[in-house]
Amino acid sequence: MGFLTNEGQTYSRGLEGVVAAISAVSAIDGQEGRLIYRGVDIEALAEYSTFEETAYFLLFGSLPNKSELEQFSAELRDAREIHPRVKEHLKVLPSDPHPMDVLKLVVSHLALYDPDKQRMDREAKIRKSIRTIAQFPTIIAHYNHARHGEEFIPPNPELSHAANFLYMLTGNVPDEENARIFDIALILHMDHGMNASTFATMVTASTLSDIHSAIVSGIGTLKGPLHGGANERVLKMLDEIGSVEKAEEFVLKSLQERKKIMGFGHRVYKSYDPRARILKQYAERLSEKYGDTKWIEMGKKIEEVMIREVGRKGIFPNVDFYSGIVYHFLGIPRDLFTPIFAMGRVVGWVTHVLEYLQANRIFRPRAIYNGPLDVEYIPIEKR
Ligand SMILES: CC(C)(COP(=O)(O)OP(=O)(O)OC[C@H]1O[C@@H](n2cnc3c(N)ncnc32)[C@H](O)[C@@H]1OP(=O)(O)O)[C@@H](O)C(=O)NCCC(=O)NCCS
Repeated sequence: MGFLTNEGQTYSRGLEGVVAAISAVSAIDGQEGRLIYRGVDIEALAEYSTFEETAYFLLFGSLPNKSELEQFSAELRDAREIHPRVKEHLKVLPSDPHPMDVLKLVVSHLALYDPDKQRMDREAKIRKSIRTIAQFPTIIAHYNHARHGEEFIPPNPELSHAANFLYMLTGNVPDEENARIFDIALILHMDHGMNASTFATMVTASTLSDIHSAIVSGIGTLKGPLHGGANERVLKMLDEIGSVEKAEEFVLKSLQERKKIMGFGHRVYKSYDPRARILKQYAERLSEKYGDTKWIEMGKKIEEVMIREVGRKGIFPNVDFYSGIVYHFLGIPRDLFTPIFAMGRVVGWVTHVLEYLQANRIFRPRAIYNGPLDVEYIPIEKR
């Protein structure tokens, strides 16, 4: 009976406006352009906090005191190395897959060697989460060397999470300013309410599957160009435009052809994304520092035209628009931009999973059936 009537069912395309969970992790005011992590404005965290401190804050719900922060930072530092067999495997992978696909594969592979792999209790889940957060930078930097036939650069325990990634990637200890800017970029990407990849990790975890599987769901979901994959496409678009003089014409033509401009628009923000505002400032600073303002000039022109043309529809720059310019100056290859998004967001994924599991209920929505009814089955020999 039920599937015939679809009675009492409401449908929201793309689940817009649907509330899927109650959470104390982060919140977005899309009208005001405000983002908070556990009540603290993102601007304050970007100004004063670090990756390690904000990760602790999200995971455990309160800001750490000095000794808690030291202990947590040490746990992260001590877990950076990846299993030798996984390292060997990285060396024999093809050199052309997208690094997000490698990240998915390697997180699955590391799950097989995790010391807590047989344990499903909360404490083990927290340990596995911390290890995975610590391992993301190593996986990404090591794969980048492996695909170029280069030696791995081992993690440097003297460096912070952010500085160590830039070191493992480039072989140079970054200067304080670059390390700090990258640290801030990771903080800005750490969490964002019930976004698609967070929801995907929660759906997987809600079946009481393991935390590595949940993270792999998140990576696969973040990869898409409508979510985390937009950042590398922004630079591709800037390449295509070529110069600031051509930016306006490009935007107008794209809008006329109903093509989306990458790095603009958001399901929740109908005003300026506060993360984009912060990243824009650092994109400007780095452009100045390296004496190359072509990208930022183009970016600012595109922003001006977009706000003029479609700002009234609530379309403004999102986190992906200026992050690419920042990463470019930090010496990060373009196809690592989305893995870097994941490096920050993995904290949000596991935090939401751990929160949701405290009062877990399997996610099981429904679909309205609009297919045919009473179709006669015809055996294959009669078709
Ligand atoms: C983020 C995004 C997926 C949100 O999607 P959504 O909430 O489903 O919104 P829609 O795609 O339905 O867009 C709503 C309207 O805004 C327009 N729009 C949204 N983003 C746009 C963009 N980047 N460029 C031009 N127009 C855009 C749509 O064409 C649509 O217009 P219409 O009402 O006249 O048809 C969407 O804005 C997008 O694709 N942006 C580009 C990719 C991107 O930067 N993603 C990173 C997100 S952090």
